[in-house]
Amino acid sequence: MTTPTQTFEFQSEARQLLQLMIHSIYSNKDVFLRELVSNASDALDKLRLESFRDKDLNADTDDLHVEIAVDAEARTLSVRDNGIGMTREDVIGLIGTIAKSGTAEFLKKVKESKDAAGSQDLIGQFGVGFYASFMVADKVTLVTRRAGTTEGVRWESEGEGTYTIEPVEDAPQGTTVTLHLKPEDTEDHLFDYTSTRKVREIVKRYSDFITWPVKMVKEKGFAEEEPEEGALETVNSMKALWARSSSEVEQSEYNEFYKHISHDWNDPLETFRIQAEGTFEYQALLFIPAQAPLDLFMRERKRGVQLYVKRVFIMDDCEALMPEYLRFVKGVVDAQDLSLNVSREILQQDRQIRMIRRRLVKKVLQTVKTMMADNAENYAKFWTEFGAAVKEGLLDDTDNRESILEIASFASTNDAEAPTALKDYVARMKEGQEEIYYLTGESRSILENSPHMEAFQAKGFEVLLLTDPIDEMWVDAVNGFDGKQFQSVAKGEVDLDKDEDDKNAEAKKDFADLMTWMTTTLAENVKEVRLSSRLTTSPACIVGDSHDITPTLEKMYRAMGQDVPKQKRVLELNPTHPLVTGLRTAHEARPEDEAVAETAELLYGMALLAEGGELTDPSRFIKLMAQRLQHSL
Ligand SMILES: Nc1ncnc2c1ncn2[C@@H]1O[C@H](COP(=O)(O)OP(=O)(O)OP(=O)(O)O)[C@@H](O)[C@H]1O
Ligand SMILES: [Mg+2]
Repeated sequence: MTTPTQTFEFQSEARQLLQLMIHSIYSNKDVFLRELVSNASDALDKLRLESFRDKDLNADTDDLHVEIAVDAEARTLSVRDNGIGMTREDVIGLIGTIAKSGTAEFLKKVKESKDAAGSQDLIGQFGVGFYASFMVADKVTLVTRRAGTTEGVRWESEGEGTYTIEPVEDAPQGTTVTLHLKPEDTEDHLFDYTSTRKVREIVKRYSDFITWPVKMVKEKGFAEEEPEEGALETVNSMKALWARSSSEVEQSEYNEFYKHISHDWNDPLETFRIQAEGTFEYQALLFIPAQAPLDLFMRERKRGVQLYVKRVFIMDDCEALMPEYLRFVKGVVDAQDLSLNVSREILQQDRQIRMIRRRLVKKVLQTVKTMMADNAENYAKFWTEFGAAVKEGLLDDTDNRESILEIASFASTNDAEAPTALKDYVARMKEGQEEIYYLTGESRSILENSPHMEAFQAKGFEVLLLTDPIDEMWVDAVNGFDGKQFQSVAKGEVDLDKDEDDKNAEAKKDFADLMTWMTTTLAENVKEVRLSSRLTTSPACIVGDSHDITPTLEKMYRAMGQDVPKQKRVLELNPTHPLVTGLRTAHEARPEDEAVAETAELLYGMALLAEGGELTDPSRFIKLMAQRLQHSL
């Protein structure tokens, strides 16, 4: 019994992506072929792997290859593989929907970026795989049969919202994608994709290193006999780049390979290799992308490089080979002495894999260090894109902490734009300065205007401005850099000027009563009220002890749904500020006056607001403030 043709709707994200492709904003349309060949190659990899694992799989694995055929009259191009194929459910799930994380965000960004160049850039970052077909075709037909099953499926769509599915008899194992090509339009970069010359050129350029043969009908060579009707020849070299000597490989070949494995449409920022000989032999070819993927900070993000064993593809995203904080590194590791049957679980335990991973990490950090020294512009790009991820390593990878600090850079009061490396900070430290000063918070402008900064700025001390969420964590975990401790300007007592100590001692005596009284009055909110030497213009600020968690961290924990007990910190007052001296006078004159206590409370609220904190009772604050404003009119 056969089911008739059924019509389905694309999932809404898929529909939007297709619209993007049809009204193609991407000028390099040739890449559709790379996407199809890449899918075909994946399908062959999957079949080989599955037949290793499942000896009973009834599949034909004799002559695995990709074949490209063109028909100039019918204006079609088809890409066929005899790989794993798809079931009917696969087709609906894989071709009709997009499961890729970050799709919604990607589409939103495309919508926001009005100009074509911006959208091109985004597409490059995202990659659209199979849907790229609709850049060059107004109808796409896909016929597929899953290896080991008997019934085939035929999928067809014009990309406009719906697709049809019907069963087919006698479909060969694997998948054939047939594109009904749009008319040629060279101005729009739509070339004649029925020209075998053009097609060969594209395959050479984008897919030469594919480890499976890509075949096309043999053509008559120079001074050759007419080839036999239908005879095929392989058009790619199939050479694994990582197995060729570095001097033989062009950067452009690396770039195409990078695009193949990373699904990025842009060139990588850095390319580097490892050739390890001896007991454990392996080759690695690694890349640092030029842009962070959209899912860099999402929960279900991918991580790790591809694992090959003796040239045979084993798995994508091999997390055992790359730590979480270097999850953006792409590439291939080809190990000579592993079993083809390794599983993810085994890899996590494997001593050899652990050694490879250690070496890869060192190599990545070393590469960035060299980039920092030799190519400041690339390094700056790298750090903007990946710095926040790399800093996670300060917590996770204690062995390499020092190396990570060396390649890190931070916003600083030294320069409004350019971040600084720690070694440059240390070189600029003032005489007698023993610590590296920093302040954490939500944004540069909040930090710059924070009262905590006043004395440091007035006295010319440089302060690092740390605004990534991860900064809140590592500063407490890391001991220091180059023998210098990290010190928050919002924590502990500061003593920037030893000459002022006498003056301070005197002020302490003068304000002793006020401090004791305020500490009692504000006991619910603060653990102590004391005089400050970090303020020049503000009346007050709030500081933590060295082990107190910061207000930003407190907010982060709450946002994650964790319960944080109410934090009591220290209120520091500026003894030279008229509001503070005035309060002292008022308290001496009218110690029982409720209004004086309210002013103390207002002072605390202002200090909280000044550091970007939140008031516990904003309405009360407003009421008290309004009363005082009324009096001043
Ligand atoms: N020739 C094929 N044989 C078997 N399955 C295929 C084939 N082409 C596509 N698929 C399936 O459809 C899915 C979607 O393909 P698509 O190219 O859009 O995405 P992808 O290959 O997963 O990622 P990318 O964006 O890197 O291309 C694939 O993951 C694969 O499961
Ligand atoms: Mg693909």
